[in-house]
Amino acid sequence: MTVAQNWNPTSWKEHEARHLPNYEDAAELAAAEDTLAAYPPLVFAGEARALKADLADVANGKAFLLQGGDCAESFAEFHPNNIRDTFRVLLQMAVVMTFASKRPVVKVGRMAGQFAKPRSSPTETKGDVTLPSYLGDNINGIEFDPAQRRNDPERMVRAYSQAASTLNLLRAFAGGGYANLRQVHQWTLDFMGRTPWAKKFSETADRIGESLDFMEACGIDPATVPQLQGTSFYTSHEGLLLPYEQALTRQDSLTGDWFATSAHMLWIGDRTRFPGSAHIEFARGIGNPLGMKCGPSLEPDALLRLLDELNPAREAGRITLISRFGHDKVEDGLPKLVRAVQREGHPVVWSCDPMHGNVVKSDSGFKTRPFDRILTEVRGFFAVHRAEGTHPGGIHIEMTGQDVTECTGGAVAITDERLGDRYHTHCDPRLNAEQSLELAFLLAEMLNSEMGEQRAVDAA
Ligand code: PEP
Ligand code: CO
Repeated sequence: MTVAQNWNPTSWKEHEARHLPNYEDAAELAAAEDTLAAYPPLVFAGEARALKADLADVANGKAFLLQGGDCAESFAEFHPNNIRDTFRVLLQMAVVMTFASKRPVVKVGRMAGQFAKPRSSPTETKGDVTLPSYLGDNINGIEFDPAQRRNDPERMVRAYSQAASTLNLLRAFAGGGYANLRQVHQWTLDFMGRTPWAKKFSETADRIGESLDFMEACGIDPATVPQLQGTSFYTSHEGLLLPYEQALTRQDSLTGDWFATSAHMLWIGDRTRFPGSAHIEFARGIGNPLGMKCGPSLEPDALLRLLDELNPAREAGRITLISRFGHDKVEDGLPKLVRAVQREGHPVVWSCDPMHGNVVKSDSGFKTRPFDRILTEVRGFFAVHRAEGTHPGGIHIEMTGQDVTECTGGAVAITDERLGDRYHTHCDPRLNAEQSLELAFLLAEMLNSEMGEQRAVDAA
């Protein structure tokens, strides 16, 4: 990566910042920032570079990206079982997709740092009381109470500590035996026993077991093959809360490059990716792989200017464009962006976020996402890339390993009336474990046909 000119970790302060909290006590903020600045990095530059190399394979059509996790992590839901279950569903999805596509799946959690949220309104009103909106557990509290809704810089320190423990457990799961491919049967969650997807997953697991037996019979000992013993798992979150990100930005001693060490990958949200924004300014100087959300309001020219600013060296793997148009807009809106990027030769990963353009208010009053609209957007995304001759490189989802009832539909249909049963999210509705696996099988089908076509082209 070429070092960004006229940049330093605080240069974002000279730019227009939207969706940042106002802290009423500057000394209190400075104290929290100083504490964080003295804490160890959560990830290393070398790991962020490894993810960038993996994403370069995705950009070149040789791999697929699976990015998922909570809309907003919370202090209340911090529990090892929640971390394990989300990790497990991501592994299951990855196995299904790898098996179908015969290509590696790069796994990135929206985990270990995904706390801060941009909100559509700065205030929330209940009856005749109006309070500041909830902005994420690293900023204020979700309870509708004036003391809880105060922006408290100390929350950043607690979020760091939760991120550190979460990452520690994820590293242990990924490398300590849990992700061993021999375990693939054990990953089936109890409550998935009743879905058609559990049976389908078990069939895939049988076939993987047979492949491992076959390899063993041929004299390859799976116990000595690191790729079968564990997996790479990366973390990511929206790089929204710049005081937190700045405090954790460090200079790599090997190269002198700056890296955000709060996660391997950061993304810029749809509401903060306008040209000249503080968030763009911060992101351009860090060496991490970057995501950028692309919604219906993004024009091709603006996108190209942003790409020139964020990736002047046109490094593959540096940028992942995460489109989030909505089920009825993707086929109209996405092609013009894809064509512009192709025309200018920017190497990007195209990923599909089928969640954020498909939020509806249910009759029962819950914010939800109909599962069929999510699938429709994914199909539309694949159709656009097939038509444009580009690689549909990834999926970005809000999901959990818990048996929640937040998105309607799916094979074990969640009805509008059942949304209230287990609606636990701190922000947007997430796919539950069954719905996530169902989506993985749909992706597997689409990847299989995409890869089949690619093989036919390669062979011709
Ligand atoms: C999100 O990913 O949680 C989010 C807020 O998305 P977007 O920026 O696309 O609205
Ligand atoms: Co969200």
